[in-house]
Amino acid sequence: MTTMVVVASKHGSTAEIGERIASTLSARGVKAHVKEVGEAGQWLYETTNVVMGIPVYRQKLLGEATLFLEAHRTELAGKPLFLFAVGGGPSLNEKLVATLRRFPHRDLVYFRGAMDAEKLSFFEKLQLKVAKAPSDADFRDWPAIEDWAHGLLAYGVN
Ligand SMILES: Cc1cc2nc3c(=O)[nH]c(=O)nc-3n(C[C@H](O)[C@H](O)[C@H](O)COP(=O)(O)O)c2cc1C
Repeated sequence: MTTMVVVASKHGSTAEIGERIASTLSARGVKAHVKEVGEAGQWLYETTNVVMGIPVYRQKLLGEATLFLEAHRTELAGKPLFLFAVGGGPSLNEKLVATLRRFPHRDLVYFRGAMDAEKLSFFEKLQLKVAKAPSDADFRDWPAIEDWAHGLLAYGVN
């Protein structure tokens, strides 16, 4: 039984959350590995459970992530799927929750992410400024992330 943590991550903070989820599962004896969304499709056939991390950009879910969920709808339907969305705001917009609910999943959670000014383009920093959001902040709640990963065991991820 293997668990693949698929991450769609533009600037790395969602990927780091995925790494923490995988290492938390591994510490509990789960065979877990992280894959970038672009290469995850080829590993689906040998994966039992799928955990997927999806960041929010400009009020939308990152396109690569929703494209993956759409493109692999059939394969994913046969596997326990767990979703974590990542954004800068305090909660996930209801419209985005509704979008994610269209993909059959066992659990959906929202984690606050991080913005690293050194990794952002001038345009991205400008967008954050206009939205009155910080361009250098780390809101990730690592204990909550680890708790959620532990909670996956209760769904039969082992
Ligand atoms: C240009 C830009 C736009 C963003 N737009 C939103 C947004 O609309 N809503 C939100 O909750 N977070 C927004 N964020 C915050 C990101 O979701 C957050 O930084 C997330 O951790 C990024 O994940 P990544 O580092 O894996 O790409 C935005 C961040 C940037 C840089």
